[in-house]
Amino acid sequence: MDAKLLLLLLLFLFDVSFAQMPGFVSLDCGGQESFTDDIGLEWDPDTQVRFGEAINISVANETRKQYMTLRHFPADSRKYCYSLNVTSRTRYLLRATFLYGNFDNNNVYPKFDISLGATHWATIVISDANTIEVRELIFLASTPTVSVCLSNATTGQPFISTLELRQFNGSVYYTQFEDQFYLSVSARINFGADSEAPVRYPDDPFDRMWESDSVRKANYLVDVAAGTEKVSTKLPIDVDRDERPPPKVMQTAVVGRNGSLTYRLNLDGFPGFGWAVTYFAEIEDLGPTDTRKFRLVLPGMPEISKAVVNIEENAQGKYRLYEPGFTNLTLPFVLSFRFGKTSDSSLGPLLNAMEINKYLEKSDGSLDGAVVASVISKFSSSDWDEGGDPCLPVPWSWLQCNSDPQPRIIKISLSKQNLSGNIPTDLAKLSGLVELWLDGNSFVGPIPDFTGCMDLKILHLENNQLTGELPSSLASLPNLRELYVQNNMLSGTVPSGLLSKNLVLDYSGNINLHEGGKRNHVYIIVGSVIGAVVLLLATVVSCYFLHKGRRRYHEQADLPEESLAVQRFVSSKGDAPKETAHCFSVNEIVQATKDFERKIGSGGFGVVYYGKLNDGKEIAVKVLTSNSFQGRREFANEVTLLSRIHHRNLVQFLGYCQEQDRSMLIYEFMHNGTLKEHLYGPLTREKTISWIKRLEIAEDAARGIEYLHTGCIPAIIHRDLKSSNILLDRHMKAKVSDFGLSKLAVDGVSHVSSIVRGTVGYLDPEYYISQQLTDKSDVYSFGVILLELISGQEAISNVNFGANCRNIVQWAKLHIESGDIQGIIDPSLRNEYDIQSMWKIAEKALMCVQPHGHLRPSISEVLKEIQDSILIEREANATREGNSDDMSRNSVHSLNMGSLDLCGNENYVSFDESIARPTAR
Ligand SMILES: *[C@@H]1O[C@H](CO)[C@@H](O)[C@H](O)[C@H]1NC(C)=O
Ligand SMILES: *[C@@H]1O[C@H](CO)[C@@H](O)[C@H](O)[C@H]1NC(C)=O
Ligand SMILES: *[C@@H]1O[C@H](CO)[C@@H](O)[C@H](O)[C@H]1NC(C)=O
Ligand SMILES: *[C@@H]1O[C@H](CO)[C@@H](O)[C@H](O)[C@H]1NC(C)=O
Ligand SMILES: *[C@@H]1O[C@H](CO)[C@@H](O)[C@H](O)[C@H]1NC(C)=O
Ligand SMILES: *[C@@H]1O[C@H](CO)[C@@H](O)[C@H](O)[C@H]1NC(C)=O
Ligand SMILES: *[C@@H]1O[C@H](CO)[C@@H](O)[C@H](O)[C@H]1NC(C)=O
Repeated sequence: MDAKLLLLLLLFLFDVSFAQMPGFVSLDCGGQESFTDDIGLEWDPDTQVRFGEAINISVANETRKQYMTLRHFPADSRKYCYSLNVTSRTRYLLRATFLYGNFDNNNVYPKFDISLGATHWATIVISDANTIEVRELIFLASTPTVSVCLSNATTGQPFISTLELRQFNGSVYYTQFEDQFYLSVSARINFGADSEAPVRYPDDPFDRMWESDSVRKANYLVDVAAGTEKVSTKLPIDVDRDERPPPKVMQTAVVGRNGSLTYRLNLDGFPGFGWAVTYFAEIEDLGPTDTRKFRLVLPGMPEISKAVVNIEENAQGKYRLYEPGFTNLTLPFVLSFRFGKTSDSSLGPLLNAMEINKYLEKSDGSLDGAVVASVISKFSSSDWDEGGDPCLPVPWSWLQCNSDPQPRIIKISLSKQNLSGNIPTDLAKLSGLVELWLDGNSFVGPIPDFTGCMDLKILHLENNQLTGELPSSLASLPNLRELYVQNNMLSGTVPSGLLSKNLVLDYSGNINLHEGGKRNHVYIIVGSVIGAVVLLLATVVSCYFLHKGRRRYHEQADLPEESLAVQRFVSSKGDAPKETAHCFSVNEIVQATKDFERKIGSGGFGVVYYGKLNDGKEIAVKVLTSNSFQGRREFANEVTLLSRIHHRNLVQFLGYCQEQDRSMLIYEFMHNGTLKEHLYGPLTREKTISWIKRLEIAEDAARGIEYLHTGCIPAIIHRDLKSSNILLDRHMKAKVSDFGLSKLAVDGVSHVSSIVRGTVGYLDPEYYISQQLTDKSDVYSFGVILLELISGQEAISNVNFGANCRNIVQWAKLHIESGDIQGIIDPSLRNEYDIQSMWKIAEKALMCVQPHGHLRPSISEVLKEIQDSILIEREANATREGNSDDMSRNSVHSLNMGSLDLCGNENYVSFDESIARPTAR
């Protein structure tokens, strides 16, 4: 009986102690207790973390205990770190996961940064409350602990669901760059998978997650070739070593029955240098005469296609692993790849698995890391070590650092922190230190020698219990300007070097400290007073100029009376003077427009005329029709708004003119008309605008909108963005026009309820339904404009989008989501664009037209994407121009490649012998 029990107990113990792999750490962030999950992983709560708040969440269909809790941190400028014990000189997989689950009932999707030590690892952008975001990194440990920190809450609060560490056993992920680079995991794909769930522990002893190729998600494995079939086997696969993909992954594959396997996927973090390996094992029964030989084709990388894969031959047998790969390869953001059979092969290509990692450059961190660690080791509490690097990516809360790539600490603020003991002498090793605040503590003992801190400018040691003399070495610090040592127990005499120095010095309250034995009271040397006077003068002068600058606005004539109310509202925030607009006289306008001779446009609320002022300045005069909805009130609104908005990407407002029955707004004249005319007006027949130009126009417009959203207080929502409201100047620089519908967003409230206005085709559906206006409504309209730029199509058309579709958004969405971007690209762009930059914009455009505002990016994010896209396009432009000769030459070679069935723009494969082969390991 007892023996049985003992056996049971032993079995139980055995079970528990062997469930967990060595070197696995699984933190259930926000969890309460340790537990073992269904697959045998042991989870521990993250109780080591002193900050943040643990919270329970509940997400539909998510039953794993580790995803029912999370830990979130304040949205401040600090960083919050986890410290993990590791074994030096060992490789690890580090995984952080994030399931938002709307924990704060806010639906403001968080965006924040995660770092490993001093290195920025990734920016976590939550875009769905119920989707788990996963980030993985492979690193070689060089210290006994690593820090993983969350910081830089851009929106919402930073949070984390799990933090996992998996120790590798060997050298599969060895790279010759591993001392300077981490590998950030971009793709790890199990082809031909039989379910959507990833293959992981215990099938993979290292708990890598091999993602199924059958997962349906946006931008993941699209453009799959016709004739792609899944195959699988139950026979064991010889993978040789543990770190290779587990047999379960290798037992499934895809085969290109029609001779090709093609895929396209987005690679997070790229373009950049990457590590890419494909895994093959022959798992089909080949007939006696069958052969399987194929090549990899990557667009723009002809050298890659040289090597022919013959799995059986390369692996020396069936059901054996062959893993050709590249240890350093330049990869684009949108990776299109193809395996094509060779002409003498009877079977199409086969692919079992693939891994792509990006090289992430390590940051060396602050030069003062070791010194500051030694300093805080002298303090009784360990709270001063806030984890990670003292300076990067954001400094500890009590430090300031300079902005060098390897920063130095320049300021330490430890006033009134109950610190005791001696002042750590190591502080003097912080050679970049400019300010040191140690006042109001209980420090005892002597003042250390600070001659190591030659930049030291401000030193606060007052209100401690320091003893000994005031060191004369302080006088040798060339930059010392302020020295406070009052209310200590210092003794002796004040060094004459200090007294003769241009310095603010306070040594009062030290009963035994004397100035050359004479006086004992506050002695402040005011050599710097002259400096202070200069400073004071400078302040007065700049205020005066500011005042003059503002005065300009007061000289203007009276405003229409109704506008005054609005105006008061605008300026009620502070005592800033009212800014009013220039009032043109009717005569001036009649003269300038030659009695309204030349009509240059018309819109919903008036006709626009060309004019030229006496000084030669060309103007556009918008005459508001009296029956337009824009009544006197809106007029006042617009005039007031316009007069305080100045940005180079907003059409400049010059003033207004009003008579009894007519109101006019005067703007700068824009020589090249509206963007709309250039995209699908009569102008396009003569000359179409290039893709790069379109991107630049988008950038200009986005900058203008960004200014409205973020540069104005209160923020301004345009409400009627459309391609006919984007005007082009003489140099084709774009400016946003027409704030007739703009309305002030009320400070502190994220939306404004008002009558729905806007233009069909550009109108945010959410705004239409809810009548709640936010800046995301403009983002929606801007998304439509991006789609117009890509396609050259109008936002609404009864004919262009097929039978059941009138709307550019539906039409483009269908194409883009199915991977067919070519189907929407403006044919008049011919092939003169880079597909990657096109993809970036197309995908961002789709984000912008998401049905719900909170899912849309901010205009600043869109702007960033456009700028990235411009960089890609410029680079591609340069190579397109540089390569045009080579391409025609190479196309001769490519004639020999008929069997490869090269498609689209990949027709420039060359056979340059000098180019390196892929490395097979
Ligand atoms: C979370 O749930 C656990 C048990 O399910 C409970 O003990 C704990 O108090 C909860 N925590 C919070 C913050 O609600
Ligand atoms: C949860 O699972 C049920 C049944 O499998 C399914 O009908 C439902 O759509 C799922 N909900 C979510 C949010 O995935
Ligand atoms: C990490 O190692 C230190 C020292 O070896 C030890 O005190 C600490 O408990 C360890 N932390 C964890 C989470 O295992
Ligand atoms: C914080 O995030 C913002 C936006 O993502 C970025 O512009 C900024 O550089 C980041 N700051 C740091 C210190 O990383
Ligand atoms: C690690 O490698 C050793 C020998 O090199 C082997 O015995 C052990 O099983 C491996 N561990 C794992 C988890 O693969
Ligand atoms: C692929 O092959 C199948 C038959 O194996 C054929 O029916 C189909 O038309 C082919 N598709 C293409 C695109 O060649
Ligand atoms: C990869 O190759 C490029 C040049 O081809 C080189 O600049 C880079 O340092 C290499 N390694 C990494 C990790 O980027």
